[in-house]
Amino acid sequence: MRGTLVVGNWKMNGGLAANAALLSALVDGWRAAPGRRIALCVPYPYLAQANSALATSTIAWGAQDVSEHASGAYTGEVSAGMLAEFGCRYVIVGHSERRQFYGDTDAVVAAKAVAALAAGLTPIACVGETLAERDAGATVAVVRRQLDAVLAAVGADASLLVVAYEPVWAIGTGRTASPDQAQAVHATLRARLTQAGAADVALLYGGSVKADNAQALFAMADIDGGLIGGASLKSAEFLAIARA
Ligand code: PGA
Repeated sequence: MRGTLVVGNWKMNGGLAANAALLSALVDGWRAAPGRRIALCVPYPYLAQANSALATSTIAWGAQDVSEHASGAYTGEVSAGMLAEFGCRYVIVGHSERRQFYGDTDAVVAAKAVAALAAGLTPIACVGETLAERDAGATVAVVRRQLDAVLAAVGADASLLVVAYEPVWAIGTGRTASPDQAQAVHATLRARLTQAGAADVALLYGGSVKADNAQALFAMADIDGGLIGGASLKSAEFLAIARA
């Protein structure tokens, strides 16, 4: 579903007291409007806190990763069914930090998207090139390969995805893709999604989005919102992005 979607990715940040303050500031400050949605992807231990703080609000929540397996002997993993029990609507799969530090391959990311959908969650499937790949002119090939792995696995459910383009070189670096650079990649992704019968998928941009650059990015034809890391930890900044 298109319209504006802004998702906070807290990454491995937070604490019960700080979260309580942030969540209540967001609940107080967020005014839902037609076609505008926000969500927060929090660390697993804080899902219960998000569930209780946000249950009566229009702010959705979710997790930052999920197991590709439904249950069993997978020490340390968390299943999509468990996330659903805590009221999650979304789960990020294939974030570049998972791919880089935890070895999530295209095949694993695709399997995680399938597992999420099977539990009724919306996967936020991340794609993005490294600086070396961009410099080598491989951006389109990389993001298409990453997206195609997910599309092949989810088949007719492609329209249920959210897709986030996050150039690895722009994540947490303060260096953002220009609106034109981001739009060029989004147009490619949109074309591929359209071929797959999923033209209406929300396509988010992520990578150093702040209140002062969000509006220019979100104004682009194929950018439907953002996946926000660092700036999602500050209520005023995150709300300003969500209103951009
Ligand atoms: P950033 O992170 O906004 O801190 O660059 C974005 C992300 O990794 O999702």
